[in-house]
Amino acid sequence: QTPSFFRDETFRGDFTFENSPEAIHRFPFPFDRDQYMYAVNIEQHMPGPPKSATVFPIDIDEHYVAEMADRAKVLADDPLRCQSLPHMITAEWDLLELLMTSMARDYPEWFSLERDGARWHWINRPLGIDQRFTFGDAATLPHGPMEYITRQCQGDFCLLDQRDDNLWLDAGIVTSQADWSLDFDLGMNFIEWHGPVPRAHDMGIFDRALKFLLNLQIGRPIRRLNWTMTINPRLDTSPENYHRWGIDRTTVTPENVGDKVHLRVELQALWRLPRSNAIVFSIRCYLIKMRELVSVPKWGRRLHRVLRDLPDDLADYKGMTHYRATTLDYLSRHDDGAPTSPGF
Ligand code: HEM
Repeated sequence: QTPSFFRDETFRGDFTFENSPEAIHRFPFPFDRDQYMYAVNIEQHMPGPPKSATVFPIDIDEHYVAEMADRAKVLADDPLRCQSLPHMITAEWDLLELLMTSMARDYPEWFSLERDGARWHWINRPLGIDQRFTFGDAATLPHGPMEYITRQCQGDFCLLDQRDDNLWLDAGIVTSQADWSLDFDLGMNFIEWHGPVPRAHDMGIFDRALKFLLNLQIGRPIRRLNWTMTINPRLDTSPENYHRWGIDRTTVTPENVGDKVHLRVELQALWRLPRSNAIVFSIRCYLIKMRELVSVPKWGRRLHRVLRDLPDDLADYKGMTHYRATTLDYLSRHDDGAPTSPGF
C-alpha cells in the first residue's frame, strides 16, 4: 500500500467523500437483527477478521489524510473543540503512548516510533511529520500531547477521570461528533452527559454500563457500536455549527436520497490508561451512503426494517424525522421481504 491509498476528498463544501468497494466491504454494519433498541452492547476489543475495521485496536483507513485535514480546519475555526483540564496532563501522555505504539506496530509502512528512554522519535509518513521529543515534557511538542497525537489519528477522543465512583469528561478532542458539544459537556459525569438520551436511563442501561466501566482493567479494552444518520458526508455535525448543517435535513428528495443520506456508525472503544488510571473513549466515525449500502443486499434489507420499526422517540433523538419517510421509500425497494439470519 502506497500513500495514494489515501483518498483526496472533502467532508464539507462539495462533499466528494465516497467509499471504495474495499471500504464498503469492511464497513462496520451495526445491526445483528432486524430491530434496534438500546442495550449495554459492550464486548472485548479483540482483533477482528483480516481487513475488518477491528483487525487492529486503532483503525486507519483510506479516509485518513482527508479526515485529518478536516480536523485541522475545525480546530482552526474553533479551538474549543479540543480542551483539557490541568489534572489530565498525565492521561494525555498515556493517550499519546497508546496511539503511537499501536499505530507504529500495526501500520509500520506509515508510522514509526523509536524510543530511547524518554527521548522519542515519531515519524508519520502520510502526513509528512518527523518529530523528536521528550516523553513527559510538553514543551518539546508543538501542541499538548493529546492534541498533538489526535491531530494524526482518525476518530474523536475523550479522556475520563475516575473519582467518586463516577467518570468525568475532563479532556477531549471532538471534531466529528453526532450533534453533541465537548465545550458544553466538559466537566460533566457519565450520568449527566448522557442526560438527553431517551429511554436508556429508565432501562438501567447507564447505571449498568458505568458499573462495568469503573472496573475496566489495563490491557483489556472494550468496544461498542453506536449509529445515527447524517445528511451529506459531513464529519462536523456539532451543535456549534448547527446553523450550517441543520437545514440539510430538509433537502432530501427521492432523486438525491441515495447520495445524500448516510448511515453514520461509531466504533467506540475504551481503554484503561496505566499512569493516570483515566479511561480513554475513542469514537471512530464511519460514513456510508444509502447507494453504497444497498450494494450489499442483506444490509439494504435489514436497514429498511430497522428504520421502519424504530420507535419515534429514538428517530426524533437521532434527528431523522424530516427525511425518514423518503429514506424508507428508497430502502423498501431493496427489501424483497426475505428472512434474514441473526448476526452478520
Ligand atoms: C449518547 C458520550 C460511553 C450509551 C452519548 C452522547 C455522548 C456520549 C456525548 C450524546 C448525548 C447527547 O445527546 O448530548 C459518552 C462517553 C462515554 C460513553 C464520553 C465514555 C465513557 C457509553 C457507554 C454506553 C453508552 C459505555 C453503553 C451503553 C450511549 C447511548 C447513547 C449515548 C445509547 C444514545 C446514542 C444514540 O441514540 O444515537 N454518549 N458515552 N455510552 N451513549 Fe454514550
